[in-house]
Amino acid sequence: MSFDPEKLVNPKLLQVKPYQPGKPIAECQRELGLTHFIKMASNENPLGTSELVKSQLAKELVHLSVYPDGNGFELKTALSKHHQVKFSEIILGNGSEDVIKMAIQTFVWGQGELLIFEYAFGAYKILAEGLGFTVKEVPSQQYGMDLAAMMSGVTANTKLIIFANPNNPTGSYINHADFVSFMNKLNQDVMVLCDEAYYEYMVEKDYPQTLTLLKQYPNLIITRTFSKANGLAGLRVGYAIADERVIDLMNHVRQPFNVNHLAQVAALMALQDQDFVKQVIRLNEQGKTQFADGLKKLNLSFLPCHGNFFTVEIPIEGINVFEAMLKQGIIIRPLMPYRMKNYYRITIGTFEQNEACLNALKKILHKERVV
Ligand SMILES: Cc1ncc(COP(=O)(O)O)c(C=O)c1O
Repeated sequence: MSFDPEKLVNPKLLQVKPYQPGKPIAECQRELGLTHFIKMASNENPLGTSELVKSQLAKELVHLSVYPDGNGFELKTALSKHHQVKFSEIILGNGSEDVIKMAIQTFVWGQGELLIFEYAFGAYKILAEGLGFTVKEVPSQQYGMDLAAMMSGVTANTKLIIFANPNNPTGSYINHADFVSFMNKLNQDVMVLCDEAYYEYMVEKDYPQTLTLLKQYPNLIITRTFSKANGLAGLRVGYAIADERVIDLMNHVRQPFNVNHLAQVAALMALQDQDFVKQVIRLNEQGKTQFADGLKKLNLSFLPCHGNFFTVEIPIEGINVFEAMLKQGIIIRPLMPYRMKNYYRITIGTFEQNEACLNALKKILHKERVV
């Protein structure tokens, strides 16, 4: 009998479509032969990484031969001061995806299910289905997140609800009042993970202050990341804040050395450089105006922007907009994997990057005589 590894795995695994990340610059260079690319496909930080972080990292290379601190003592101590929460209320991850996976592993079990919104960040489904669990999706209206619909989707099998606030790739967000009202109605035998990867970018006054709600809702897990506003996507550091009993349980499934030493030091330094984060937010706010004006001039419609990216509808038949942008050296993110036909996600960059992107779009639209 011939060896067939597919027969050896959970059949559900065969249905899981691996996550498609933004196309890396090096891959584009290899494939297209262009030397200069602007990556606006993964919501990374256009200002790169804080100088304070970079100068400290160079000094840390002597520590590479020993295991990192598995308890992340210094980083968790700094985070607990920064957020005014207890040390025991924090767990670190190899990116926030790692903590999200730990939450799924901890709280979804047996016939339990994960409940998410349609158009939710793609990793949730992949992580849960990869672990063999069923994922239910709550339908969206106009790409928004409807908590009343989410509440109706809760069944006896629902163990965990995850949503990103704001959501990637739609940019929609849930406000404080709606969130509190949802949590009030929800039975506390269902856990809720609020993924706040874009938290720092949220200037909206009614954005939920979830940290203030932890005492009231011990079934709430908040995740944050150093990948976005802190510019550390390449090092992979994220964390969750929750009731200490919840964190304790999540520690049961955490890999012992899940956050490497350089990542821990970099995150510690990044926390100390809040001026860098402020600069990033200022640039992002300017970019929002620049992009919104530019897209309107091009007659392109886009979803309301909350976070550091625009979700733009570019309905041109017979042309692959992603490829056409690549040829002009700009990497954007097609949203077909989310079944959002003709939609593209574009990360807000520096003034020059935004201009280059808008000009490239203009060229494509002119060629197609859409404008
Ligand atoms: C909503 C959301 N959550 C989580 C992540 C993953 O972040 P990390 O780099 O911390 O794993 C992303 C990355 O794009 C995201 O958009």
